[in-house]
Amino acid sequence: MRLDKFLCRVNLGTRSQVKEYIRKGLITVNGTVCTRPEQKINEITDTVCFQEKPLIYKQFVYYMLNKPGGVVSATRDSACKTVLDLISCDEKSGIFPVGRLDKDTEGLLFLTNDGALAHMLLSPRKHVDKTYLVTLAHSLSTDDVTHLEGGVDIGEDKPTLPAKVKILSELEVLLTIQEGKFHQVKRMFTAVGNCVVHLKRISFGPLSLDETLRPGEYRVLTEKEIHALYEGTNAQK
Ligand code: URA
Repeated sequence: MRLDKFLCRVNLGTRSQVKEYIRKGLITVNGTVCTRPEQKINEITDTVCFQEKPLIYKQFVYYMLNKPGGVVSATRDSACKTVLDLISCDEKSGIFPVGRLDKDTEGLLFLTNDGALAHMLLSPRKHVDKTYLVTLAHSLSTDDVTHLEGGVDIGEDKPTLPAKVKILSELEVLLTIQEGKFHQVKRMFTAVGNCVVHLKRISFGPLSLDETLRPGEYRVLTEKEIHALYEGTNAQK
């Protein structure tokens, strides 16, 4: 792996910041100052230090993205910009979005290269809560709320699983579901004669969208957030 890529991977800084650290002679590899960002290192066996402090390589990376509208939740697409196009080159190798949001949906998207954790989070048996801020075309009646919460027919074999609706204002509601069927939220509101005008995911399992992230921005998850994801799935780290 290139030295500058390694330094980004351990979250020492952005690509330009780490290059600056290298240029200033603050990075050593096996005790020798290294001034070339492109130098190849072995991330497992070499000892890389920043100001004499060893940097520990982590195999897995975990990001929270505030997905903007207009990008697709895929790793590549021949026609559209993808969520991976929003992640810097040094940080995106091997990562993928955990689940999908529609092209026009905004909000919290979790990305990682940790396949085992992603698999657990996406397992229908795990019932991971996903909460959406939904803007509707029409207001919801009490009956609509009862239907949505109890399960509605969206044309699948079975009705949707129990959900939670919280009315915020005449046309804004929070919907929490545990499934992730194709266009599920939109289809649930269509099933009660309504129409979703705008959709934003604000939580995914224990993760809440960091409101300091502007659409298109992302950040590394904290250790606490990563731990909470593992706790919720009983996956082995
Ligand atoms: N449900 C939808 O209809 N769209 C999404 O993007 C996510 C959930």
